[in-house]
Amino acid sequence: MMFSDRLLDRLSRARRVAVLTGAGISAESGVPTFRDVEGLWQRFKPEELANVEAFLDNPELVQGWYSHRRSLVSETAPNPGHDALARMQDMFDSFTLITQNVDNLHQRAGSRDVIELHGNIMRSYCIDCGADDVANDDVADVAGAGVDDGIRRCRSCGGLIRPDVVWFGEMLPQDAFAEAESAAFASDVFFSVGTSAAVYPAAALPLTAVENGAYTVEINIEESNIAMYMDEVISGRAGEVLPQLLDSIESVRG
Ligand code: OAD
Repeated sequence: MMFSDRLLDRLSRARRVAVLTGAGISAESGVPTFRDVEGLWQRFKPEELANVEAFLDNPELVQGWYSHRRSLVSETAPNPGHDALARMQDMFDSFTLITQNVDNLHQRAGSRDVIELHGNIMRSYCIDCGADDVANDDVADVAGAGVDDGIRRCRSCGGLIRPDVVWFGEMLPQDAFAEAESAAFASDVFFSVGTSAAVYPAAALPLTAVENGAYTVEINIEESNIAMYMDEVISGRAGEVLPQLLDSIESVRG
């Protein structure tokens, strides 16, 4: 058994559980990270594309990069780690799933009310009028705006369409972060899964849980930057550890 008696005891009594996930949970689905996108995009650094200046300078390039990433993600599927977290949502009085990922895989696995700290590449909005009902289709489909310069524009006002993700230099969605903070604050058990915990403020959430007396557990193939603050560190792949964790929760909560 890979789980300690302490963890199982906490889980048997826990009322509120919160989980923070990062890119590691999607690795087993084959979602390419920023760093290993292929072909055409290899010559660009993510920092050069994922920021508002780059977008305004060359919207077609940045829109094209996100189109490419959306199609890669569409070809992948949730893995047993995402599935196990979706099953856990009904096993506690309160279960909050917070993710830094923009790949939509938790939602596709059936997790409800996922707190998206960095947005979701499947959504877009107009930078001028804010319209968010734009489909993530290719340029041809936004011809309704009457502009045909290869750039995706808003159907109602012709403004530039951008992905609903947090770019370098931008603030996190404040409501989502506040909700995530309260969940971390109130949790009895907090899991940090597949994140290097290198990017703030998301990386502060496990520390908020620690300060407020939660039992904190990291699940990662290697130790993160905050491993030393966690009550327990489980070394392993999320897609293998989480299904076993689900089984253990089922057995201790009967
Ligand atoms: P990172 O790429 O920084 O870290 C991924 C973590 O997953 C590492 O700690 C790996 O050891 C771990 N890992 C890899 N495969 C795993 C597996 N199968 N099971 C468990 N763990 C595994 O990704 P994040 O921590 O998500 O921000 O990065 C945070 C943010 O940095 C991203 O959301 C993005 C980026 O800048 C924005 O886009 C705003």
